[in-house]
Amino acid sequence: MIYLDNAATSYPKAPTVAKAVFDFLNDVGANAGRSSHKAAQKSSAIMFETREKLAAILGVSDSENISFTLNTTQALNTVMLGFLQAGDSVLTSTMEHNSVMRPLRYLEKNKSVKISQFQCDKLGFPVWDDFLTKIKKRPKLLICTAASNVIGTLFPFPKMATVAKQNKVTFCLDVAQIMGIYPFDLKNYDIDIVCFPGHKGLLGPTGTGGFYCNPKIELVPLTFGGTGSSSNLETQPELRPDKYESGTQNIASLAGLNDALDFLLTTSITKIRKHKVQISSYFIEKLQTIDELRLITSADLQQQVGVLSVTSPQLSLSRLTAELDRNEIATRMGLHCAPGAHKTIGTFEAGGTLRFSPGYFTTKEQIDETAKKLKKIIRKLRYD
Ligand SMILES: Cc1ncc(COP(=O)(O)O)c(C=O)c1O
Repeated sequence: MIYLDNAATSYPKAPTVAKAVFDFLNDVGANAGRSSHKAAQKSSAIMFETREKLAAILGVSDSENISFTLNTTQALNTVMLGFLQAGDSVLTSTMEHNSVMRPLRYLEKNKSVKISQFQCDKLGFPVWDDFLTKIKKRPKLLICTAASNVIGTLFPFPKMATVAKQNKVTFCLDVAQIMGIYPFDLKNYDIDIVCFPGHKGLLGPTGTGGFYCNPKIELVPLTFGGTGSSSNLETQPELRPDKYESGTQNIASLAGLNDALDFLLTTSITKIRKHKVQISSYFIEKLQTIDELRLITSADLQQQVGVLSVTSPQLSLSRLTAELDRNEIATRMGLHCAPGAHKTIGTFEAGGTLRFSPGYFTTKEQIDETAKKLKKIIRKLRYD
């Protein structure tokens, strides 16, 4: 299979991730942070090491402020539901994934949270004047994506963080599409919270993710329960990360993520980014030779993260996607859980886009093969 759906989750994973999960289940298996026997200590060590490596990737030294979740969505929910109170106001963009918009719409309906959205243009970039006007109204929270999951557009988040700080607005960045893919270092920016997946650019297993939350910011936990700490109390401990990690964690998958982070740290995100820029540029050149497809992602790779969306006035994109799948090429067609983004870029009425998202392991030969098959399938579809 040629896998071009890395924006949903990465595949293949880093080379020894599957073995690390297998070894954990086979040789360790114990719960973490609870019992004191050797296997339990090993489990706790895996979680600690994983947190430390994530801290190194994020550029922070306080790894206790990183909490694990099952995915980015759960991290984003923890932030929004745990930070916003009745009547608060929040600023977001018109390009968001439903994992930001749905919790916000829930809060709008049930807690009268006021949502304001800064406009983005047809390529998905924030309209800067609109952003400035709206942030100056000092919402309690600015929450937005770092890069679009539909067309890969990178937001100018360093500049946005500076303006948020000047206006005393807490900034939460959804780094689902850049974590492990595009180098960034929290030391350099005034970003208070980041929500990330372990299963996309970090090349770890599904069921992993988390958030970093500046210690000055308190969130009401999404779940309350056993943490293995302060067991004499019936109230939730304040200590991080325990405060936000009730119940048994997904330790088997975290063992896989721990292994993936070794691969990432030795390979370097700069090298991964370089490969993604090269392979995406190559892919764009190929796509531009196919008359029936219209590339709507910016062709300038400095402005995006290698999420390539196309539309077609002549063809049914769902048939094209299904035919690609029959030819062992995995892509995704539709709204990609981001209806607002499609309304912004003008692809909502057509039912969305066909999205190709190559990954670190995608080769030029695979792109050549995809372009060849695309041409063949399109010829067939046109004459059917
Ligand atoms: C920008 C963005 N935010 C959030 C999510 C949700 O991520 P997860 O599947 O890890 O919950 C995605 C998933 O594709 C995404 O692209």
